Parts: sequence; C-alpha cells; structure tokens
Amino acid sequence: MAHVESEGIFTSEATLSPEFVPETPIHRESQLQLIEDALKPALANKRPDNLFLFGPTGAGKTTCAKFTCKQLSEYKPSVYSTYINCWEFNTRLAVLSQIAGAIGIGFPRRGLAGDEVFSRIIEMTKKNKSTIIVFLDEFDQLCLKKEEGIVYDLTRAGENHGVNIGIVCISNKSNLLDTIDKRILSSFSPLRLEFQKYSPSELKDILRERAKIALRPGSWNEEVIGLCAGHAAKLGGDCRIALRCLWRAARFADRDGIKITEQHIRSAFEEKGEQNENTVALNEVEKKIVELLQANENGNGMQSGKMYELLQKITSERTARNTLNSLAQRNILEIIEVEGKEIGGRGKSRLIKLKQKTTGI
Ligand SMILES: Nc1ncnc2c1ncn2[C@@H]1O[C@H](COP(=O)(O)OP(=O)(O)OP(=O)(O)O)[C@@H](O)[C@H]1O
Ligand SMILES: [Mg+2]
Repeated sequence: MAHVESEGIFTSEATLSPEFVPETPIHRESQLQLIEDALKPALANKRPDNLFLFGPTGAGKTTCAKFTCKQLSEYKPSVYSTYINCWEFNTRLAVLSQIAGAIGIGFPRRGLAGDEVFSRIIEMTKKNKSTIIVFLDEFDQLCLKKEEGIVYDLTRAGENHGVNIGIVCISNKSNLLDTIDKRILSSFSPLRLEFQKYSPSELKDILRERAKIALRPGSWNEEVIGLCAGHAAKLGGDCRIALRCLWRAARFADRDGIKITEQHIRSAFEEKGEQNENTVALNEVEKKIVELLQANENGNGMQSGKMYELLQKITSERTARNTLNSLAQRNILEIIEVEGKEIGGRGKSRLIKLKQKTTGI
C-alpha cells in the first residue's frame, strides 16, 4: 500500500521515481505474453526458452523483466527467479552469488570460489526439483568485462546435470550478441524480443496511470500529461524522461501552489541537464572527461591510456577507470574493447567515444 503524504501535491512521490515498478506495465502486453510463453515451461519443471530483450533506453525492458520475475516467484515458489543488474554484479562470482543468495544458500564468512558456488546451486536445484530463471539486466556490462561465459556455464549445466535453467539477457544494444563467442551463443541461442520506443499516446497512458497514484486529484490534468509526454517523445520516447519531467513539474508546483501549471512544466524542461537526463550533476572528473572527448575533434574516440594520462593531474587511474565505466553505464559515452595491446603495453586497450551530443552541462 503506497504511503500517503499528508499535504501538498504528492500522494506518493516515490511512485514517480525510476526505481518504482508498476503493478502492471502498460502497452507491453505482447512483450509480456512472449516472455511468459518462453518461460512457462519452468512452471511444469521443464526447460524454458532463453531470451534476449533489447531496445532503446526507457522502453520498459527492466520494468517488464522485474514484473515477470516477481510474478514467477509469487506464482510458483519452486521456480527460483532472480533479477540481477550486471552493472552492480559484473563478474561470474558476483552473478553466481546473487543466484545462490536468492535460493537461500548460505555462505561461510571466508566466501566461496565460483565453482563451489556453482555446484551448490546445482545441488540445491536438483534436490528441490526446482527450475532457475535468471534475468541478467545490463548484460553488456558482463560482456565488457569478458564475463559473459557465465551464460554458457548456466545453459550447459542444464544439459549436463539435468537442471532446468532459463536465462533472460537484457540490453539496449541490439547487436550485442554478434560480439559474443559463437560457442556461448550456440548454447544460449535465445529468442530475440525487441522493445520499441513508446509513442506519444503510449507515454500519455503511462503517465496518466502514474499520476493517479502519485499526485493529488485536481493537481494535474490532461494538458500536464500531454506536455510531459510530448517532451519525452521528442527526446526519443524515453519513459524515464516523461516521468522525470512530471516529477520535476510536480516538485515546482508543490513549492508554489496546489496545481501543476504549464509554467511548472516549462521550468522542468529547462532544468539543467533535462536535454539528456544522464548529464545531470556531472562531477569534476566526469565533466573533464566529457570536455576532453568533445575537444577531440576527429570524433574517433580516445584510447583509455591517453585519457588516464590527461586526467593524471586531477585524479588517479583507478578513479578515472571507474568514472569512465559509470559514464558508459549512464549512456554518456561508450567503451569499445580493442584487440591487442595499447601503445606503452598497458594491457587491453579501450577506445572511449562520446555517445551523444551532451548539452546543458
Ligand atoms: N510499460 C510501462 N508501464 C509503466 N511504467 C513504465 C513502463 N515502461 C517503462 N516504465 C517506467 O519508465 C521508467 C524506465 O523504464 P525501464 O527502466 O523499464 O526502461 P529500460 O528499457 O530498462 O531502459 P534502459 O535501457 O535505460 O535500462 C521506469 O521508471 C518505469 O517505471
Ligand atoms: Mg533497464
């Protein structure tokens, strides 16, 4: 039950936050049906189909994955359904530990090696005659770290140990699978499911439903919904932008009065960074990285080694590396792994490129 705020515009501000998972995603019926059809065999203790969900940012992939994951565990507790964000858990061991944790396997304090965790997962699943479904969101982060072999391990475990495991990989890179090892791909062989960007009228429907729970009746109207949806549609149909715009406008209105006006929405559009929500509040190192890439006129990107060198005065290589990863995760830049060693023999080379025009910094 949503917490009801006592006064002001909001009845439940948290429902406008990006982490909120709606009770039922709207306008994603066909995608949800396909996911359900693919995973349904798990309910009969049979092997489900694997899936690859892809599409632009803010198209509802994570929302549908989390929704399905929750439904599965609620409907049949013997299906061990786990949602993992690979940005947070980006190694084989981290992923396995998450799965193990979700099925209730305890760990000794000293921790366990990956293979040991893996065998315990298999043992437990066999003993309980269960099925495992793993949602690997932001799957490109595992690929970036060359840890995508976990997909192979899991699918092969199914075949070798008679355990049913379904894997759902999610990314906004539609061609991600072209870059992974053929052996991994052939055992994974997922059904591909595309999420297209939302149309203005779909965005309106989503916003309207959210406004009903988040905002006090009478504080918003159809015009408010239309303006926020139109704004997000112009910026690529990203639902996250639509919700953020509504939330910011409501924040302004909360300060000023009892209704969201067109002016509040205009102010929400104009807020620094709204052109690209990811560029909000860049820290010093992040700003410098973006500036260096913008100044790099040929636009072909910059080698990571060169970038570390240029950042030397303001930060350590380790922080620079973490900052680059964080900017990549927020879609501000991309990191391309390049074969061979970098000049100077630093090991694997990474090419850093700005992803989109970054305005309003
Ligand atoms: N169909 C929907 N119904 C209701 N809310 C939605 C729907 N789709 C997206 N949202 C909302 O929009 C926001 C962004 O959606 P989501 O995180 O699922 O996008 P995504 O496709 O995973 O994007 P990314 O590629 O950036 O990870 C979420 O806060 C979610 O609540
Ligand atoms: Mg997502």
